[in-house]
Amino acid sequence: SLPVPNVQQLASSSNDVPIRYIRPELELERVSSDDEYVQVPVIDMSKLDDGDDDDDVELAKLHSACRDWGFFQVINHGIAEEVILKMKADIEEFFNQPMQVKMESAQLPNGFEGYGQVFVVSKEQKLDWGDMLFIITQPIHGRSMELWPRIPSSFRATLDQYSTELEKLTSSLLSSMARNLGLEPGKLLSLFKEGMQGMRMNYYPPCKQATKVIGLAPHSDATGLTLLAQVNEVQGLQIKRDGKWIPIDPIPGAFIVNVGDIIEIMSNGEYKSIEHRAVVNPEKERLSIATFHSPNFSATIGPLSNLLTKDKKGQAPNYKSISHEDYLKLGAKIKLDGKGKGL
Ligand code: SIN
Ligand code: FE2
Repeated sequence: SLPVPNVQQLASSSNDVPIRYIRPELELERVSSDDEYVQVPVIDMSKLDDGDDDDDVELAKLHSACRDWGFFQVINHGIAEEVILKMKADIEEFFNQPMQVKMESAQLPNGFEGYGQVFVVSKEQKLDWGDMLFIITQPIHGRSMELWPRIPSSFRATLDQYSTELEKLTSSLLSSMARNLGLEPGKLLSLFKEGMQGMRMNYYPPCKQATKVIGLAPHSDATGLTLLAQVNEVQGLQIKRDGKWIPIDPIPGAFIVNVGDIIEIMSNGEYKSIEHRAVVNPEKERLSIATFHSPNFSATIGPLSNLLTKDKKGQAPNYKSISHEDYLKLGAKIKLDGKGKGL
């Protein structure tokens, strides 16, 4: 990947926004106005898990959230507040370190893990107004410890704990989703067992020309299921619905969950992986944590055969089935063309 400027440094050193960040197409994009502004469904996890009659109602809500929205928020998810607050505090502290400290976790040439900017493939390519720290957190043997920050000193333990908690929450969502899709309850769980979990911690500096730049360009997630936490009070996530961008209002303490491309494919298109983006604020920095979950490497990426049988309307497959390895290669290729889906 080509080296690009550190945006935090750029934002603090000058008021002028370099031309590579200015996106003329933004003027053509429509953002929904306040009066037509709708919110994504809210799923109460405590009603999904306790096995009583509420279950059916909440399960049905989850099903329509995955089918009709691709995005929802989860509340009462059971993750202790202090685990989330500690994660947020450590991330803020990391991004506030001097450059030389952050560069100890710098992306390696051609690598996507570590501290840096989004993958860049050409000198002409427009750039996103943001820096990131991307870390593979699961499986444990897939961790590149040399890229895990040492400062703040609690960060590694915090990441480990947050990773474990989010994996549990993801498992519980996956088993409810399997029930909703008419699969064996453990079907998705077994495909995601020992799968990849990665965290993309985003730092978007303020920008004087906030409406002309984009923090994270429109994309859908190439992975299976994403759990997003907003770190500070500054909002910026928007999802595309009916041709317009809808801003998401994060509920404090909730996670924003979205269906990724792999779940869309496995569900044969019944669940939707929706395009989204992050905008930046003119005065305040914004931070967020996206945690991605993918199936393990032996899982085939394709519509699940149970969903193509006669009791499920005898559907034909809407997607090809390929190995996980080929899927990743293909994803990298689409990304190289600069027009595809990606993280
Ligand atoms: C964000 O809301 O900052 C992140 C969105 C994403 O990871 O796609
Ligand atoms: Fe995303």
